[in-house]
Amino acid sequence: MTLPETEVTGAGPAAGPTGARPADPAGLGTPQPAWPHRHLLDTDALTWPQIELVLDTARHMGEIVAGARPRSTTLRGIGVTNLFYEASTRTRVSFEVAAKHLSADVVNVAVSGSSIEKGESLLDTMRTLEALGARVLVMRHAVSGAPYLVSREFRGAVVNAGDGWHAHPTQALLDLYTLLGHVPGGSLRGRKVVILGDVLHSRVARSNLWTLTAAGADVWLCGPATLLRGFEAWAAAGVGGARRFTVTTDMAAALADADAVMALRIQKERMASGLLPSLGEYVARFGLTRERLAATSPSCIVMHPGPMNEGVEIAADVATGPSSVVTEQVANGVAVRMAVLALVASAAGLSTGLPAPRLTGGAQ
Ligand code: MLT
Repeated sequence: MTLPETEVTGAGPAAGPTGARPADPAGLGTPQPAWPHRHLLDTDALTWPQIELVLDTARHMGEIVAGARPRSTTLRGIGVTNLFYEASTRTRVSFEVAAKHLSADVVNVAVSGSSIEKGESLLDTMRTLEALGARVLVMRHAVSGAPYLVSREFRGAVVNAGDGWHAHPTQALLDLYTLLGHVPGGSLRGRKVVILGDVLHSRVARSNLWTLTAAGADVWLCGPATLLRGFEAWAAAGVGGARRFTVTTDMAAALADADAVMALRIQKERMASGLLPSLGEYVARFGLTRERLAATSPSCIVMHPGPMNEGVEIAADVATGPSSVVTEQVANGVAVRMAVLALVASAAGLSTGLPAPRLTGGAQ
C-alpha cells in the first residue's frame, strides 16, 4: 500500500550519504526498513543503516520544511511534550517547530513556575505529563542518565535532548546531516573532522564520536589536556571497541588539512575550578581564529553546536565567516528532529495512519 504523501515516516527519494542505502528507504509500498527504537537516548544504539534512515527521512522532511511538500499529518493528535530542565533556545524551539510540522499537539513545560520547583520528582513529573496526554517526551536534564530513568516507566517514546555531559543524539545526527551536505561525494570516509575545545563537558562530542566514526570519518579531539580527560582511554579502546580516533593537545597537528572543525563552547556552568589557568590563556592557545583556520583544507567548514562564546572558543569573524555552517546546522535541526520524532513515534505505535515497524529485537 502506498501511504499518502503527508503521512510518511520513511525516507524521501534522496540517496543515502554513502550511496549504500537500506532497501527502499522510502518505505513506501514495500516493507519499512527496521527502526526498532521507541526511545532515542543516544547514538550508540544506532546501526549505520538506521543512521542512514534518519538522514534519508530528514531529507524528505526538509522538503516539508521548505514548503515543497504539504505539512505532514504523521503525528496528528499525538501529544509531544518538551520538558527542559536546562536552558535551551535552538534545541527546544527546533523540537517544537519539528513537532508542529508533523501536526502534533505540542506542550512546552517551563521548569520555572512548575511543580518541579516545589520538589516534585522527575518520575512524578513524567507521570503527571503522561496523564495529561504526553505520548512523546522530549527531555533535557542536567543529570546524565535522567532520560534513561524516565524511559523505563514512560509508556510512550522518550527523546533525549541532552543529558548532562553524556549525550545529545539529535545534535550529532544534525551535525552529520550538515557535514554530509558539504563533503564532496557525500561521504565522510577518511575525511578529517576535528572537535575542538571543551570536550570533557560535551555531550555533543560524545554523541558525535559514535556517528562520525560510524560514517568512517578520521576524528580528532583537540583541547587542553584537562578538557580531554578520559578520552585517551576511549580512543585506545575504540568506539564500539573498534573504531579509532585521535586525541591531541597539538592544535597545529589537529587543524592541518582538516575537512571540518567543530568548535565547542567552554561550558563554564559545568567547569570545576582548576581545569583552565585562565580564559585568556585558553583563547591564546585554542581559540579558533582565521589565522589558524588557514592550516585546514581550503574547503574546510566550521561548525558549532551553539550557543557560541564569540571571542572565546571561536573568533567572531570565523563564527560568521564564509566557512561557517552554524546557521545551517540550526536550520537542519528541524528536519532531523522531525525524522527522529516520526521514527520513534512509529516504533511506539503512535503515528496516525502508519503501520508500526516490525520490532527486530534489541529495542531500547
Ligand atoms: C548542548 O546542549 O550541549 C549544546 O548544544 C552545546 C552547549 O551547550 O554548549
